[in-house]
Amino acid sequence: MSTKTIHVNASRDYDVLIGSGLLKDAGTLVKEVHAPCKVCIVCDSNVAPLYRKTVQKSLEAEGFETVIFTFPAGESSKTLDVMGAVLNFCASRRLTRTDLFVALGGGVTGDLTGFAAATFLRGIDYVQMPTSLLAAVDSSVGGKTAVDIPSGKNLAPAGHLRYRHVRNAAGCRLP
Ligand SMILES: NC(=O)c1ccc[n+]([C@@H]2O[C@H](COP(=O)([O-])OP(=O)(O)OC[C@H]3O[C@@H](n4cnc5c(N)ncnc54)[C@H](O)[C@@H]3O)[C@@H](O)[C@H]2O)c1
Repeated sequence: MSTKTIHVNASRDYDVLIGSGLLKDAGTLVKEVHAPCKVCIVCDSNVAPLYRKTVQKSLEAEGFETVIFTFPAGESSKTLDVMGAVLNFCASRRLTRTDLFVALGGGVTGDLTGFAAATFLRGIDYVQMPTSLLAAVDSSVGGKTAVDIPSGKNLAPAGHLRYRHVRNAAGCRLP
């Protein structure tokens, strides 16, 4: 499957890339829109062992420095507490406003990372690398992000657009 690019005109333009096996080219694709910097890759405990190394290796080959934040998989992690832990981790690793977040995972990871990116230092750029079907076709599109609070699901939202969306799907073969 060749890679298709859909340019989205929004408050901040971004590209949606659709193709097979894009994660191994993550470094090249991200470098097209963002100069080498420090990247915090956010992923859950299921996705980390599957794809973290591929993305990390690809980014580092293109001159990006990477740090990894991993959280327990599942909706129960889409909280202000875990979002705060992402912010604290990035602050302790001295990320700045010109650095980048990567959301590598399903909808929980995308929502959590997008919300954290909207908040960290008043907002930094992020790239979605969806690995679940729901994330590829829905949650990673449009810049909607949120975490859950005790009163209900997705009740703490933030709108935040990213540089690039790497939708790594070929039909239902993900990623
Ligand atoms: N922001 C939006 O517009 C929007 C839209 C729809 C849904 N959502 C949110 O998305 C979330 C649901 O997304 P989801 O279903 O992807 O949940 P999820 O992120 O929890 O992923 C589901 C499970 O699949 C695992 N997983 C993900 N990719 C995998 C892969 N390639 N191989 C093996 N396991 C993999 C995850 O570790 C997790 O256990 C909900 O929190 C929902 O509110 C947001």
